[in-house]
Amino acid sequence: RFDSIPLAPPDAILGLTEAFAADTRSEKMNLSVGVYKDASGVTPIMKCVKAAEQKLIETEKTKGYLSIDGLPDYRSDVQKLVFGDRIDAGRIAMVQAPGGTGALRVAGEFLARQCSPTRVFLPNPTWANHNAIMQSAGVNVESYSYLADDRRSLNFEAMLNDLSTKTRPGDAVLLHACCHNPTGVDPTADQWKEIARVVSSQGLIPLLDFAYQGFGDGLEADAVGLHTMLDACAEAIVCSSYSKNFGLYSERVGAVGLVAGTPAAATASLSQLKVIVRSNYSNPPRHGGAIVATVLSDDELTQMWKAELEEMRLRITHLREQFVAGMAKQSGAPDFSFLLKQKGMFSYSGLTAMQADELRTKHGVYVVGSGRINVAGMDEKRMDWLCSVVADVLA
Ligand code: LMR
Repeated sequence: RFDSIPLAPPDAILGLTEAFAADTRSEKMNLSVGVYKDASGVTPIMKCVKAAEQKLIETEKTKGYLSIDGLPDYRSDVQKLVFGDRIDAGRIAMVQAPGGTGALRVAGEFLARQCSPTRVFLPNPTWANHNAIMQSAGVNVESYSYLADDRRSLNFEAMLNDLSTKTRPGDAVLLHACCHNPTGVDPTADQWKEIARVVSSQGLIPLLDFAYQGFGDGLEADAVGLHTMLDACAEAIVCSSYSKNFGLYSERVGAVGLVAGTPAAATASLSQLKVIVRSNYSNPPRHGGAIVATVLSDDELTQMWKAELEEMRLRITHLREQFVAGMAKQSGAPDFSFLLKQKGMFSYSGLTAMQADELRTKHGVYVVGSGRINVAGMDEKRMDWLCSVVADVLA
C-alpha cells in the first residue's frame, strides 16, 4: 500500500523556497515566492501588527473556538475594506478563512456544490495554485486568454472574446482584482468596465481573487476593478487575503465575501459556506483575524497600517525602477522598461524555464519556472550583481 505511493513533484512555488533554504551559497537570492522583504532583507512584522498583538496579549480572555464563520469583528471590518458601503450588508455572506488559499478552496467547493454544473474560467496564465485548488474543490476548470504574445501586456480583445464565446450562463470567471499574479499586468479602469459588461451580460459569476490590495496603486485605487464588477453584477464572490498587506503570511488570514441578490439568498449561502468550512477545518484560527480586527477598529493603528503599507508599495516601485535601470547598464540585455507599467510584487521577466534553471544552478537566484520574478524580494544593495547574472543567463 504505502510502499507503492509515487513521489509527488515539488510545488512550483513553495518547492523552490524549500530548495532555497537548503542552498548553502551565501550570495543566493529568493525571487520565487511572493513575500515582501525590507531593505535589510527581512520580511518584517509590521509595527501596527506588533502593537495589535500587544493589545491582544493584554485583553484576550479565551482561546475558545471561534464560530464556524469566524470572528464577528474581523468579518465586519473586512467587509468594509472590501465592499465599502456600496452593497447592502444584508446581501453579503462573509466567512473568515485560513488565507487566500483557504478562501478560494471554500469558494470553489461552494461553486461545485451549489452552482453545478458551473465551470470556472481561469486567466491564462494565472497563479500556479488556482487550477489545483479549483480541481480539488470539484469544479471543472477552463481558461480564457489574458496575456498577449509579447508576454508583457494584456490581450484585451482575446480576453473579451473568450469570455463572450466560450462561457455559458452560470459559469464562474476568476479575475485577479489587482496586481495580477504572475504577470503584474492589470486591466485599466475603462477595460474593467468592459469586462464587467461582458461578465454581466453573459450571466457569469465573478470570482475575484483579491490578495494584493494596496500593492498596486493604493488601497482605494486597487479596489476599482472589484467595485466596477460589483456595480454591474448582482452576484459575486470575493476571496481576499491579508497575508501580504498585513504581512501576516504564516497566520493564514483571509475571507470569502459572497454577494447575493437578496438577503434571503445571502442567508442561505452563508449556511452552505458554513457546512463547507465545518467539514474542512471546522472553524478558522483566531490570532491573525484578531490582529486585523484590532488594527482596523482603532483609528491610530489603522493610520499606522496605511502608512506602512504605502511604504511597502513605494519600495516595490523603487525596486522596479532600480532593476530596470540596472538592466539598461548591461550591454546587450533587452529593455526591461515594461516592468514599470506592471503592478504589485510580480512580473514576467521573459526568462525561459531553462534560463530560470540556469539562474538558480549557476548563480543561486531563484525565480519561478515560468520566468515570474518577485520584485518585492530583490535586494537593492546587490542590484548590480542581480542584473549582471540575469544578463548572463539571457546572453
Ligand atoms: C505566490 O504566488 O508566491 C504567493 O501567493 C504565495 C503562494 O502561496 O504561492
